[in-house]
Amino acid sequence: MTLIENIKNANSLIIGTSQGIGLCFVKKLLQDERISKVYATYRNPSNAEELLSLTDEYPDKLTCLMMDITEESEIIASVQRISTEVSKLHLVINCVGLLHDENLQPEKSLKQINTENLLRYFQINSIGAVLLAKHLLPLFKHKEPSVFATISAKVGSIGDNQLGGWYGYRASKAALNMLMRNVAIEYGRSCPQTIVVTLHPGTTDTRLSRPFQRNVPPEKLFSVERTVSQLLTVIEQLQAGDSGQFFSWDGSKLPW
Ligand SMILES: NC(=O)c1ccc[n+]([C@@H]2O[C@H](COP(=O)([O-])OP(=O)(O)OC[C@H]3O[C@@H](n4cnc5c(N)ncnc54)[C@H](OP(=O)(O)O)[C@@H]3O)[C@@H](O)[C@H]2O)c1
Repeated sequence: MTLIENIKNANSLIIGTSQGIGLCFVKKLLQDERISKVYATYRNPSNAEELLSLTDEYPDKLTCLMMDITEESEIIASVQRISTEVSKLHLVINCVGLLHDENLQPEKSLKQINTENLLRYFQINSIGAVLLAKHLLPLFKHKEPSVFATISAKVGSIGDNQLGGWYGYRASKAALNMLMRNVAIEYGRSCPQTIVVTLHPGTTDTRLSRPFQRNVPPEKLFSVERTVSQLLTVIEQLQAGDSGQFFSWDGSKLPW
């Protein structure tokens, strides 16, 4: 059985939607008649103007919630707010991720390793996802099919790592994959109809990849629209036995 195909009036939650892949998921789901509610989180209103403007167009369907994934209290507050309106979620996609910002560049060599930066990578890229899993569990405890997907990255595959570098980002995505594999096992006992997966989006033209696009051939650099429709196809084709797996944008399984 595939997921959304069989669902009407699905409730969705997309985390990390101020820009990039997350914002595009929101736009796509707002246009999807099978989805009745879209909850979308952002961290900072001054950075989320396009998202917030969508509430004028979709006042009943879209609810925007302010949430920093590194603050457990903000995750709890968002889940409580969602729970006042709906008792079930059918599609959750966590799109939060950090590779670089004004104070942080991915490490090219051991000389650049520092504890503070490593901790930031893990806090945003790994720990946030498992905190979400902790607090979202009650909203997955229902009998309808559901998916909890987290955007990971192929560079988090240990088996695939031939190039090195990007210590913190790679390790935090590898940790994310392990945490979500664990979540899949525990959800398998508590809410067995929920499929928990991590997804590699392919190199996508967003703020995150922009400084590193120079050596990417144009056919391997996806627009956000292409990435989102490819990932939605992967999600729609998931089967119950796929929980706990790490999928690429084309539906192939990636090595751990
Ligand atoms: N683009 C690629 O080529 C590529 C490749 C492989 C994997 N990925 C993964 O795909 C996912 C989406 O990335 P993207 O390319 O769309 O990048 P992006 O445009 O930089 O978006 C990242 C999102 O994460 C949010 N975020 C960062 N820190 C946060 C925090 N502490 N709490 C809540 N939200 C936070 C950002 O919010 P702000 O706007 O407030 O910062 C933004 O909405 C990430 O997990 C990334 O690792 C991307």
